[in-house]
Amino acid sequence: MRIGSVLLSLLLLGGCAQVRTVPVSGERPGPGAPHPRFGTPRHFDADLLRFRLAGTQRGAPGPRLPAIPPPRHVDCRQHKCVALTFDDGPAEYTGHVLDLLAAHHARATFFLLGQMITNETQDFVRRMAAEGHEIGNHSWDHASLPGLSPDGLRRELDRTQEAVRKASGVRMRLMRPPYGATNKAVDDETKQTGLAQILWAVDTLDWLNRNPTVIAQRSAAAKPGDIVLMHDIHPTTVQALPRLLDELDHKGFTYVTVSELLGDPTPGRKYTNR
Ligand code: NI
Repeated sequence: MRIGSVLLSLLLLGGCAQVRTVPVSGERPGPGAPHPRFGTPRHFDADLLRFRLAGTQRGAPGPRLPAIPPPRHVDCRQHKCVALTFDDGPAEYTGHVLDLLAAHHARATFFLLGQMITNETQDFVRRMAAEGHEIGNHSWDHASLPGLSPDGLRRELDRTQEAVRKASGVRMRLMRPPYGATNKAVDDETKQTGLAQILWAVDTLDWLNRNPTVIAQRSAAAKPGDIVLMHDIHPTTVQALPRLLDELDHKGFTYVTVSELLGDPTPGRKYTNR
């Protein structure tokens, strides 16, 4: 009897242990889990921020806008740096992208469309700023900028500067021309308004090939100093992220924002990598 109950306990314990050790999703632990190389992350509490912002709007004490972490000084001559960039949001999958980046202590750069910043998505913009990501201007509605009048061009950029400033308090210093299309008028306007033009070295073509394996392979082929182009509006890109972050981790990459990669980018100038 006694031996039987001991055996039964062992079986139960074994069963429990087994249940605990099998990963639920087959993927990596959530954003709060300690990172194998960097330890416990500075976990961002989106609910707390939302609560504080809501409280502030009712007149209660608290910061109205997120505290933005100080810029880091990463020496990309010493480290294998890569700048992951996500265009065309903020949108419904952006929160998931931020969770995955947090789990890898990865900073990235988001090039936002002004018209995508709504009551539903503005928390993502605040969260980007609070978690140390960089925010860049991707125009108001994805217009091809070289085709616009001088007024039209200025309006595309100014309206988005204002939308991001209102949502997060951030004054953007980077822009990415939609389709990578730029010309002398765009060079002049961005120089005048203090925006560096950020293109890319690695194009994942994630808008064309909606295949997470292919997207992860293309991103993971980045060389040190590269700027990688992706879009956080496609679920397949989000599905590619765990694998590509694992691969880049394995290769020893440090994830930096575009400004961390480039140092102090010059307004008007075009960049594809470091
Ligand atoms: Ni775009």
